[in-house]
Amino acid sequence: MAGEPATSLKPDIGSGLRIPLHLGVIMDGNGRWAKMRGKRRTEGHVEGVKTLRNLVELCINYGVGTLTVFSFSSENWTRPPDEISFIFNLLRRFVASDLQRLIRNNVRVRIIGTRRGLEPSLVRLIDDAEAKTAHNTGLNLVVAFNYGSKAEIAEAARHLAREVAAGRLSPEAIDEAAIGNALFTAGLPDPDLIIRTSGEQRLSNFLLWQAAYAEFVFVEEHWPDFNEATFRRVLETFSTRERRFGGIEAVGR
Ligand code: IPE
Ligand code: IPE
Ligand code: MG
Repeated sequence: MAGEPATSLKPDIGSGLRIPLHLGVIMDGNGRWAKMRGKRRTEGHVEGVKTLRNLVELCINYGVGTLTVFSFSSENWTRPPDEISFIFNLLRRFVASDLQRLIRNNVRVRIIGTRRGLEPSLVRLIDDAEAKTAHNTGLNLVVAFNYGSKAEIAEAARHLAREVAAGRLSPEAIDEAAIGNALFTAGLPDPDLIIRTSGEQRLSNFLLWQAAYAEFVFVEEHWPDFNEATFRRVLETFSTRERRFGGIEAVGR
């Protein structure tokens, strides 16, 4: 919730690193990583999945509560159809091949984004992954797929308007919590740290509402090169940030 510290200290991980309760990651730079090596863009996406697998493990080991990764944006539909279907197949394969391991690791999976327009077999696959991990109590792994934050907010507004029109909600009851609860991320804390790789410094329509008080760390590495050393460096930077939430003193340290 706005104004509350959303951070925990996990001294056991070493050097007093501050560990985010909710980490958001914009996994960018797969295409450039591949191009630099004379490979096809799709090979960068394949490597990117390996990095994601690693990151999930790092988050479990370091005690991150929720990890939200941006894997396909609503704007990515403007890419060539071949690349789009390759990314969709990668998601399918990731869910199919990693689900058992995620279950064993007590990971709870949630896929956010619109399911309208997705193939029914893909929708079944992601529904199944959510259902089979719904009772897990470890890391929350949130995959933003076919996700756009403005569309999410518009959808929330439509939902609340329908509730008002049906007489189930008064307009006065539409506060920040009501809007937060109408978003895909309902029930999750706001991200306290957002990382973007590959040197770009923008949100690209990722968690606009939820990131109101997030810290941002931008790293130069392309996503396939992101590793534990990068992760630790980011956490060290995050640990030095003074978070004030509008007040005059640091909160949550
Ligand atoms: C991120 O890498 C993955 C997706 C957006 C699906 P990119 O594919 O955006 O890689 P660049 O930015 O072109 O290098
Ligand atoms: C954002 O990356 C979306 C994902 C990482 C899935 P893009 O590469 O699509 O963003 P822009 O187009 O450079 O802003
Ligand atoms: Mg990109």
